[in-house]
Order: sequence, then C-alpha cells, then structure tokens
Amino acid sequence: MFPKLEDIPEHFRLPAPVHQDVTLIGGEYAAFGGTVPVHSPICARDAAGTLAPLAIGSHPAGGVDEANAALDAAVKAYDDGRGEWPTMSVAARIACMERFTHAMVGARAEIVRLLMWEIGKTYGDSEKEFDRTVTYIRATIAALKDLDNAHSRFQIVDGVIGQIRRTPLGVVLCMGPYNYPLNETFALLIPALLMGNTVVFKPPRFGVLLFQPLLEAFRAAFPPGVINFVYGRGEIVVPLLLESGRVNTLALIGSSRVADHLKKLHPKTNRLRAVLGLDAKNAAIVLPDADLDLAASECVSGALSFNGQRCTALKMLLVHRSIATVFLKKLITKVEALEAGMPWEKGIGITPLPDLAKVQQMHAYLDDAIAHGGAVLNRGGGVSSGTLFHPAVVYPVTPEMRLYRDEQFGPIVPVAPFDDLAEALDYVRTSEHGQQVSVFGNDAATIGHLVDPLVNQVCRVNINSQCQRGPDVFPFTGRKDSAEGTLSVTDALRAFSIRSMIATKETGANKLLLENIVAQRTSNFINTGFIF
Ligand code: G3H
Repeated sequence: MFPKLEDIPEHFRLPAPVHQDVTLIGGEYAAFGGTVPVHSPICARDAAGTLAPLAIGSHPAGGVDEANAALDAAVKAYDDGRGEWPTMSVAARIACMERFTHAMVGARAEIVRLLMWEIGKTYGDSEKEFDRTVTYIRATIAALKDLDNAHSRFQIVDGVIGQIRRTPLGVVLCMGPYNYPLNETFALLIPALLMGNTVVFKPPRFGVLLFQPLLEAFRAAFPPGVINFVYGRGEIVVPLLLESGRVNTLALIGSSRVADHLKKLHPKTNRLRAVLGLDAKNAAIVLPDADLDLAASECVSGALSFNGQRCTALKMLLVHRSIATVFLKKLITKVEALEAGMPWEKGIGITPLPDLAKVQQMHAYLDDAIAHGGAVLNRGGGVSSGTLFHPAVVYPVTPEMRLYRDEQFGPIVPVAPFDDLAEALDYVRTSEHGQQVSVFGNDAATIGHLVDPLVNQVCRVNINSQCQRGPDVFPFTGRKDSAEGTLSVTDALRAFSIRSMIATKETGANKLLLENIVAQRTSNFINTGFIF
C-alpha cells in the first residue's frame, strides 16, 4: 500500500524537505546547537524496494539553553504585568491577532500539506483541522470583544464605584498533542495570547514542522517575547521550566501522569494555574432497543476516525448481550469496509500511524487480549505493514485485559457484553476517566434515568451519537483524570485570565478623576470604549 516516491501525486508532495534550524525567541531567530531529523508516518519504497519512513525535514534539537532563553524572553515581555503586551488595550491585541490570522490563512496550503505528512491525517481532515482552527480564532476574537464590551462600564454598589475586567495571568507554558497539533494547540495558545499572557510554546513530538511557515507571522504580528518556541526533549526542558517557578499557567493537552508530575515541580503550586486536557476512555453503551445501524455507524466513526487517535474517541463499546451478535455483525461489516491507504487518496479511512513504536503498542494490546481469551473478529484485523495497522475489533473484552481500562489511542475497537445495565454504568463509575459517554437507545424512561447519574460522572453524555469535542462553543472538559479547567470559545478566555478591578469611593472628586481618565484615555483598563 505504500507508494513509490514517483507515484505520489504532484499536488500532495512536499516541494522540498523543510529544514528549520532556528528558534523564535524574544522576537528574534536564534540557533541552539544542531537539528534533529523529522520522519513522516508515511513510508515509501526506494528503487531497491526497501520500505522506510520518509525523511521530510528537520527542526532545532533545542535543549536547556534554548528553554532558559525562551523562558527569560517570556518573563521579560510580561515584565511582571508591566510589559507592552499585558498592558496593551484589548482592541490593539485583537488587531495583532488579526494580522497573524491573515498571514496564517496565506500559508494554508503549506500547513495542510505538512499536517498530512507529519501525522498521517487524511488531506481532507488536515484541511478541516486548518479551517476549524481559523474559525476558532475568529470566534475567540468575537467572544473577547463581547467579554470586554460587557465590562466597559462602571458599576456603583454601596457607594463604591468599580470597573472589573479580565487580566492576564503571566507566563503560559503551552503544549499541545500530536493528533491535533494545530487545532488543539491553538485552542490553548490563541486565548492565552489574546488575554495578554506571554507564552513559551513547545510543539508536540509529531507535528513540529507545520509551525515553521507561521514563525514569521508570529514574529511580525506580536511584540518581541510574546511567543517563544522550545524544541528540546520534553523530559529535559519541561521540568526545568516548571521548577523555575516562573511559569504561571501550565496549558497542556497530554497525559494525566505527565500533568500530575509537572504540577508538583512548581515550587509554589498555589501560584500555578493548570488548563489541562488529559486521558479519556469514552465508552458507548448500546441498549437493546437501539437503532443498531445508527449505533454501528457512530461507533465505527467514533472509534476509528483518524485511526482512533482522538482524545474523544470511543475506546470501549459496551453492548447488551441480547443484541451483541447482530450489533457485532453490523460493526464488523463497516470496519471491513474502511479502506486503508495513503492520506491523500480519496475515501481512505485508515492511514499510517505516527511511528513503528505505535504499531508495536497496538500489537501488544492484541497479544494481551488474545492471551486472555479475546478474539479479533474482523478480516485482516491487527495485520500491519510498516506504519499501517489494520483496525481490529476485539471481543469479548474482559477486566483482565489491558484494553479494558487502558486508553489505546489507536485503531482497536474493544467490545464487551453486559447483561444488566448496572454493569455498564459501573464501568463508567469506576473508570479513572470522566470525559464523555455515548448512549444508544430509544426509550425515554431508560435514557432519561441513565442521563441523570451519568452527567455527574462525565462532562458530556451523547445520545445516539459518538463522542466529540465540537461545536467549539460547547464546554469541553472532563472529570477525574480527564481534564482540569474548561475549554470552549468563551471558557478558554476565562481560563487564561483573572478578574481584576479598580474601586473608589463615590465622591465628587473621584468621579471627576474617573471622568478625566476616560476622556483623556490615560488608561487601557479604565475605559468605556466599545470594540466594534
Ligand atoms: O483529541 C481530542 C480532540 O479534542 C477531539 O476533538 O472530537 O473534534 O475530534 P474532536
């Protein structure tokens, strides 16, 4: 299934490998040592027929010096709240972001291609990720205008005049995931910047080069030091950033294990805000009266879109035993209809995984399940070649298997039967995760009674549909090990800011003073202007 180099259609080829040897820090490009190669999940055969992941470029190796320089630059730009960016008017910050967005849109074709080559996402889904991100930025700007305009007034309570606005928190360390390297990262980065924070940004392990076309846009749109990149190995550079005590907000989409560890490294954890999107093991509960065609479609797409590499993916299907055989038949038919191939090919459902280690991890899950009495039910399930792994439906999954609780984050669909609804509910209740659940059924009494306890165990109950994050104006969060803080177009603005206010006694002299400040525009905070 892997192509020969010359068979890759012109339109989807990278015009040239992307070699980036400099880091954007403090508004300047600096080099810190060498570079590391970047390989695509996509393998190709050379003239001799040898299959190997394609080399597509390189990025700075980074390290301790780079991380310290990036942190210094972010701290300097924030300047304890006195910097140009944190004291700038909201309207002026929005203008900077609009300049950046304009430049980003101009780099669409390049970024979409890099997304596809770096993480193996289909070309169509890479386009969607880009466009959804631009929409997210625009919606965030609109939400900030609303938020700020709503506070462009004074309040008088008990003889005290006050004006309340949201203000930045300081330096944000921002780290996104490889599965949505642009969208999820920007869902943190953009609100963090717009609220006046300065940022140290570490791209994910896969999905680094796609930020290269944006470096100049960042440099040109924002004051020096507002955004600074770090590329060094996470386990080396991230702890030192946290241990410095100079990071005010940890914004991470990653694992709860890492988040937990990092938070404890800050010398004053009370000073550290965390905005976290973490592990999830979303279950689907398929009831006896469910529309099984619909349930099977939603479960296949919920479990296997982007090869199951979504935090919101359905990672366990709990099916009532009375309909398990029929449901599995429908599920398997749909899984077998998914075509594996290269991400630029039309109609492809399964694409290469990011590296060979991921393929080995999937095999280990299957070996463990089979050793404990499970079986792969679909034709070709679990067969792999290079980085392509054919999805596997595993049944029956039991508590002894790793697949029962582990977040597989890949193309495996574990299915477990239940006899009593209490068993399915117990699976959700006793899970370490609490992001979302899907419920398939049609009886108002059953669904109604199910929803009431479930909304207290997860943060979104999807009825007759797969789990998902969007629409982005809805709150995206989780309980237990799944999240801290809430993300959405509006919630993220709050997550990256804190309310601050001015207050004064309602005397004639104070009123005159405030009037003069507003009329003479001596403050960006005290003002009654309206941002259109
Ligand atoms: O990886 C987690 C993403 O937030 C999932 O977003 O549900 O839109 O794919 P999605």
